[in-house]
Amino acid sequence: MGYVRLSLALTALLAIAPGVRALDPIEDSLELRRSGQSVAKLALSDIRGKVEPTAVVVSDPFEGEEAAYLAFRFNIILTLFFGNGWQQWDELLFTSTDGAQALVPVDQFIKHTAQLAFAEPDGKEFSLDDKLTGRGRQALEPYYLVWDNLQDIEMAEKGADGWVMRVKSVEIIRFDERFPNTAPPKEASKIVRDGFVAFRKHCMSCHRVNGEGGEDGVELNYPMSVTEYLKEDYLSKWILAPQDLRLETKMAGISKDLRDRDLVADDIIAYLKAMASEKRDPKDAARGFSGLVPKTVPKRIAPQVTDAVKVSKKKKPSRKKKKGRR
Ligand code: HEC
Repeated sequence: MGYVRLSLALTALLAIAPGVRALDPIEDSLELRRSGQSVAKLALSDIRGKVEPTAVVVSDPFEGEEAAYLAFRFNIILTLFFGNGWQQWDELLFTSTDGAQALVPVDQFIKHTAQLAFAEPDGKEFSLDDKLTGRGRQALEPYYLVWDNLQDIEMAEKGADGWVMRVKSVEIIRFDERFPNTAPPKEASKIVRDGFVAFRKHCMSCHRVNGEGGEDGVELNYPMSVTEYLKEDYLSKWILAPQDLRLETKMAGISKDLRDRDLVADDIIAYLKAMASEKRDPKDAARGFSGLVPKTVPKRIAPQVTDAVKVSKKKKPSRKKKKGRR
């Protein structure tokens, strides 16, 4: 099978190919963090010393076709550096070299197979043409998190959900600990809790609730919840297709290729409504996404905050779109 042949070719390639840029040792190309604290900084050669790379073929949701990558089985990296206990945590927070962040539930790594790609097997430039969002050619270095989705139908249906370009750090978190201000009350209904999960996945990289979350969008709950000043049907339209309401908005909206996106929007609105009666002053927030140091340090998360000082990025990532480099 092509798969086996690729993997043989790979062995040869690793030994000889001098032209493959991404195979050069990249210093500290991957940082592993646990709940705000640095666990390890790894060069590509550190990972290669412990995990055998293979050539994988996936259906790349951005290119809309099959693509081959040299990659490490991601769960092996997780177990090596975080121990078996990683499966009991909630989520993995990925940070890219351009400052973008993505949360992927630990559950997804247990049920499906993620691969941490670091090069293309034929030595081509490690990049792809993003036809999904029309952003053109995207660099992928140092790492690109991809998923086995040729045999795994559920994963195929998820589209680009959980695929992360330019990964430079992976943080394993317990959500309530890391972002206590955004969690709904424990007795909240299932739809509210589902909405919280969906909010983390689709919105939190840009938006804050009670001060916790990304910096690119606006605070959605404090001092007044968006559910208090926006009509629900417009809120729903906005979340599903912001471009239909506002010209040239920076907001992405729920991905068009997500199944049941209307239901996901309903869940998120239910979560935001529930949080309207859970307002907490953002000055007590962890601000974990931006790495900003909070004015007051809540006791439970103090060590993580200390660490956040080290990684604080002063500049906001540029929003300029990368145009094709060819
Ligand atoms: C890529 C970043 C990004 C993502 C992801 C994102 N938003 Fe936004 N959102 C923005 C920006 C930026 C604005 C400010 C308005 C604008 O630029 O058009 C905004 C505005 C809003 C507003 C209007 C707030 C107001 O007072 O006018 C709401 C509500 C909102 N977003 C909800 C959401 C929800 C819910 C999600 C998840 C489904 C989400 N956003 C995902 C960036 C984002």
